[in-house]
Order: sequence, then structure tokens, then C-alpha cells
Amino acid sequence: MSWSQDSFLIDISKVKGKKLVLVSAIETLRREGLFSLFQKFVRTLFFRIKGVDFSPQNLHDLQIESKFKQNASVCNHILDKSFDEILKKLKNYDPLITDGVFVDYGSGKGKTLYKASKFGFREVIGVEFAKELYEISESNLKKLGIKNAKTIHLDATLFTPPKDARVLFFHNPFDEKVFEKVLDNIERSEFEKDLYIVYHYPLCKEVFEKRDRFLPLEEFISPTSGERSYFYLLRVK
Ligand SMILES: C[S@@+](CC[C@H](N)C(=O)[O-])C[C@H]1O[C@@H](n2cnc3c(N)ncnc32)[C@H](O)[C@@H]1O
Repeated sequence: MSWSQDSFLIDISKVKGKKLVLVSAIETLRREGLFSLFQKFVRTLFFRIKGVDFSPQNLHDLQIESKFKQNASVCNHILDKSFDEILKKLKNYDPLITDGVFVDYGSGKGKTLYKASKFGFREVIGVEFAKELYEISESNLKKLGIKNAKTIHLDATLFTPPKDARVLFFHNPFDEKVFEKVLDNIERSEFEKDLYIVYHYPLCKEVFEKRDRFLPLEEFISPTSGERSYFYLLRVK
């Protein structure tokens, strides 16, 4: 058997991939215990059988028309546990919150959309500006049989949230420059009920805090992952 440089590279990447899976499994075991590791294994197997892709993605090579491409973070899905804890908190704030719409600004391949739908939100919307991620997200939702969630292929600065939105979710999608435009839009929009805003992995929370309309509710640090989220309330006018 002759070794080409390409096949060698592929072998190296496979070894690296296996190592990463092992490191991630050890980390889950250490942080969350054996049962969580088992749940994670079952979930991964389920997604694999369904042909669903929630893998992380670098944005560099993707088709993004937006002038705000440089202001974006990478596409990294939130940890399941962290998101579960956030959803539970929202329900504690308002037990009827799932009657409204959940919006994820920068929804990537749609993992939060799937989970928010499963949690019981009446309608779920993801806004994603990378064409490939939007397509993968739509395909994932279809393969998972999710009917009440959709991804909109749009720059977040151009999105107007629906009147019946109850949760606006941000997982470190972009920098301050984009946030300012997005928050201007939100402040100009009309809503039927008070809204909860979750900013997960908050690298520029000052953009919220210098605006009077976003009432700080809580800084939440996940007991399992140690990840930080800020909760704000936007009252209807
Ligand atoms: C950190 S990922 C979060 C994925 C998902 N929300 C989650 O928590 O699992 C951020 C996503 O925001 C998207 N994004 C960044 N800037 C954007 C913009 N201006 N408009 C729409 N989407 C954007 C990126 O393409 C990426 O998929």
C-alpha cells in the first residue's frame, strides 16, 4: 500500500477527531457524571441515525453576503445542559412563556431551535446569515420532524421580531457594532407582552446595560458548565 500525502493527512485528522471526542467525553464525565455522559452518547447516536449535523463550523469559508461578516463569532452550538438550564429559568420567570415565540439571533445549524421546540414553545424562529448554515438548519429540522420551527436566511440587523415574541436569545453571535443595530430594531418594534432576553456567553453586555429599556434581571452561571448568561426584561410600552 502506498501512502499519499493526502491519505496521511486524512488519517491524522481522524486520530485528532477521535482524541477530541475522548477529551469531550472525559470532560462531560468529570463535570456532569456518568448519566449525562450516557445521555450524550444516546443523543449523538440519535442525531447520527437521523443524519443530523450539529457540528461546529468556522465561518470563513461560508457564503455570507453581509457586510457584518467580520463582526461575527464562530458557529458553536450551546451546550445542551446550559441551554436546558436557561429554558427552565425562563419557565420559572413566566410559566406561560412557551405560549409565545422563541427567537434565536444567529441560530447556526439550529440546535436551539430543535430544543426550544421540544421544550414546548408554540413557535420558534432562527435568524442566520450564512447560507450553508441556514440550509443545514432547515434540513436538520426537517429530519427531526420539527414543524413549528423555521430558520430565516437574513442578517440579524434586518430582522424585525414578531409581536408575539416572548424570548430573544443571543449566544455570542456578534460584536457591539451589530448589537447596537439589532437592539435599535428591537426597541423600535411593538410587542404584545413583556419579553425576556437571554445573552449567553456575554462578551459585550454593556450594549444592553447602557440602554434603560433592558432591565437587568439576573446573572446566571451554569452549575454544570460554569458558562455565564445574562437575563434582561423588556417591558411593553
Ligand atoms: C455562536 S453561534 C450560535 C449558534 C446557536 N445560536 C446556538 O447557540 O447553538 C453564532 C451564529 O450567529 C451567526 N451570525 C453572526 N452574525 C450574524 C448576523 N449579523 N446575522 C445573522 N446571523 C449571524 C453565525 O453565523 C453563527 O451561526
